[in-house]
Amino acid sequence: MYICICNALKESTVRQAARDCAPDTHVSDFYESMGVELQCGQCMCRALDLLDEESRSCQVA
Ligand code: FES
Repeated sequence: MYICICNALKESTVRQAARDCAPDTHVSDFYESMGVELQCGQCMCRALDLLDEESRSCQVA
């Protein structure tokens, strides 16, 4: 299942990045860690939910 259509990011990719990111990683840095940039933003809530599920926190601002 794709989480981010703009960047063709699958849920498995986002979950792995969430597990690998440092606590309190800024959301833009989180996307950058996957080699992409946040574009339209429609995926951000779902991506942040996955971060939460993977027990990480991320700043939205
Ligand atoms: S769907 Fe992810 S930036 Fe557009």
